[in-house]
Formats: sequence, C-alpha cells, structure tokens
Amino acid sequence: MMTRPNFFLTALLAIGCAGMSGGCKPSAVESKGEAAGEPIKIGQFASLTGKEATFGISSDEGTTLAVEEINAAGGVLGRKLKLLTEDTQSKPGEPATVVNKLIARDGVVAILGEVASSRSLEAAPICQQSQIPMISPSSTNPKVTEVGDYIFRVCFIDPFQGTVMANFARKTLQAKTVAVFTDAKSDYSKGLAKFFKEKFVANGGTIAVELDYNGGDKDFKAQLTAIKAANPDAVFVPGYYTDAALICVQAKQLGLNVPFMGGDGWESEKLVEIGREAVEGQYFSTHYHPDVGSEQSKQFLQHYRARWQGKTPDALAACAYDSVIVLADAFKRAGSTEGPKVRDALAATKDFAAVTGNISIDTHRDASKAAVILQVKDGKYKYLETVAP
Ligand code: PHE
Repeated sequence: MMTRPNFFLTALLAIGCAGMSGGCKPSAVESKGEAAGEPIKIGQFASLTGKEATFGISSDEGTTLAVEEINAAGGVLGRKLKLLTEDTQSKPGEPATVVNKLIARDGVVAILGEVASSRSLEAAPICQQSQIPMISPSSTNPKVTEVGDYIFRVCFIDPFQGTVMANFARKTLQAKTVAVFTDAKSDYSKGLAKFFKEKFVANGGTIAVELDYNGGDKDFKAQLTAIKAANPDAVFVPGYYTDAALICVQAKQLGLNVPFMGGDGWESEKLVEIGREAVEGQYFSTHYHPDVGSEQSKQFLQHYRARWQGKTPDALAACAYDSVIVLADAFKRAGSTEGPKVRDALAATKDFAAVTGNISIDTHRDASKAAVILQVKDGKYKYLETVAP
C-alpha cells in the first residue's frame, strides 16, 4: 500500500506557510480539521472571472444551493458542509495553485471542479497524489478521469457527445460535408473535434476542411474565408462560448450562411449576448435543459430560481449541483470523509437520482447519461431532443 505522499504535501505547506500572514497549520494531517462536529470542508475551483466566467459563476450557484440545502436538512454524518471556493480566472496555471492551497492550506477533504477540461487536467494529478477525491461537474474530455482512481465526473464524455452531434449533423441536418474549426489550445475542443470527425466520417460524411484558432483570438476571418471556400453544408465549432459567438458573427459578415453547431462549451447566456442574430438558429448539445427532466430536475429549477433572483439554471449549475449531492451521498455511504473511503464510495455510486439524470459511476469513473440538443431560438435555448447513451 502507498502511504501518504508527505514529502509532497510538506513541500506545498512550506510554500503556503511562507506566503501566509496568519498562523500556519502544523501538518497536512492536522490541517484536515477532521474533528467531530467541525464542518466538512469541501474545496471548489472555478472560473469565476475571465473569459469563461459564466461557467464558474453558474457552477458556484449550483454547488452553493446544494450545500445550503444539505445543511438545512441537518448536514452529513452529523456535520455541516463548508464550501471553500477559489477562482481560476479562466487561466492556465491557476488551477494548480488554487487546488494546492485548498488541499495543503485549508485541509479540504474533497475537490469539486473544474468545468474546462484543460483546467481539470491541471488539478487532477495534485488531487490524485494527495488522495483527495476530485469530482468534475462537467469536464467531458476522457483524459480527465484517466489521471487516476481519485478523479471522477458526474457528466458524460466527449466520445458520446461527438457521436450525438455527428449523428445530428448527418441524419437530422442531412449534411454531407462539414468544416471543423477547433481551439488548438483546448483539450476539450481537440477531443470533441476528433470524436465528431470519426463518427461523421463513419456515417458516410466528408470533412470538407479542418482549421484551428487559439482560444481568446478576436479575428477569425482568415480561417472563415478558407472554410467558406471549401463550401461545407455545416460547420462544427467545438469551442467555448465567447469564441464560438465571435466566430458566428464573423461568419455572417463573410456571407457564410450554413448551420453552425457546437457542444456543451457553447452553453452560456453570453453566447446570445455576443452572437445575437448570428447565433439564431444554430445548434449545440449539452447536459440539461430546464424544460425537461425528472421530478428532481423540476424541484431544482424552482429552488434555484428562488435562491438566485429568478435566474434560470444552465447545464453548468445543474451538473455542479449534482457533483455536491453525489459527494454527500458518498460521505454517507462511506461513513467517513477519509480520501480512500470516499473514493471507494464514489466508485460504487449506482443509479443515484440526480438533476441531470440517474448517475452510475462506471469503471472509468465517468457517468453515462443522456445529452440534449438545443437550438438558439429568439435569443433563448429551445429544447429539440434527448439522446440516450
Ligand atoms: N465540457 C466542457 C469541457 O470539458 C466544459 C463545459 C461543460 C462547458 C458544460 C459548458 C457546459 O471543457
């Protein structure tokens, strides 16, 4: 059996202590604050600011609601939950810094996050090495949970999402040729592009052209001109909302008027704010829609609106809410908050009724769940269909 990687945590603590103005906790083990009656500390890392800020804000609203509800009902194992949240600023480098802090300085017993796969991938090795279970609410790249047996997610993965959109493109839109426009800096985008292409070609379709951009770019005209020249029936943009919206706007300006499609990364109220009429009629797949779902999902919608000034939850909020209730259920079944026990309990999650569907954690520590396909209609997201795995 592996013992705790103390050299690693000690090094982290040393860094943490040097930079701290207040007192420094004496050891990683004591800093766990695991005394009976003390709250159970859960860490969350999320992009509360920066170019994917709506991902982090929605997630935080979902986790906060779940924690408040659990605490109002008496907590877990006779203890309250305490959520400690750190901002990744939508930037590489930040996830490692803030997750180290949450574990070594704050002594959290589990980590929730991130949304963006690249940022989850950055933090996952730290959680794995520290034996702190991590649950990503909505990172869909397969590599995230491959990091190790402490890393879980409560959402589907991109081989499935890519298949859903490739079938939609080929069968529903009847597209024969598709252009694929990928964010070269994003693990999510590269993975989803690959899985989409494989399935679209297997369906008898042709990839007219493949081009790249770098997340955060402002000018996509050169690539869009090349895409227009290839004359595809549709364009697949597996990126995040700010870039996707700007891409749709500039495509319209260039007279590229074919359907555009994306994945869950499009999901943000900002997509329509930035994209306006250029995103009207476009399609994307995601994890949740407020109009459909179980009793659980209807209740969540009501409670979320009541808690967050009438705001309608998006998929990020729903997945994040689910990450908390799945974790709390694992604490209960484990009868403990110790990493290895919680890991085993998470791995044994079966048919757990959650907001985004019934969650069973498979042998890869992923959740196999249905996707929904939405269309932008009058600046809102209209539900089109549910696709089961
Ligand atoms: N699935 C995306 C990723 O892995 C993140 C995302 C999930 C974005 C849900 C929006 C909605 O990077």
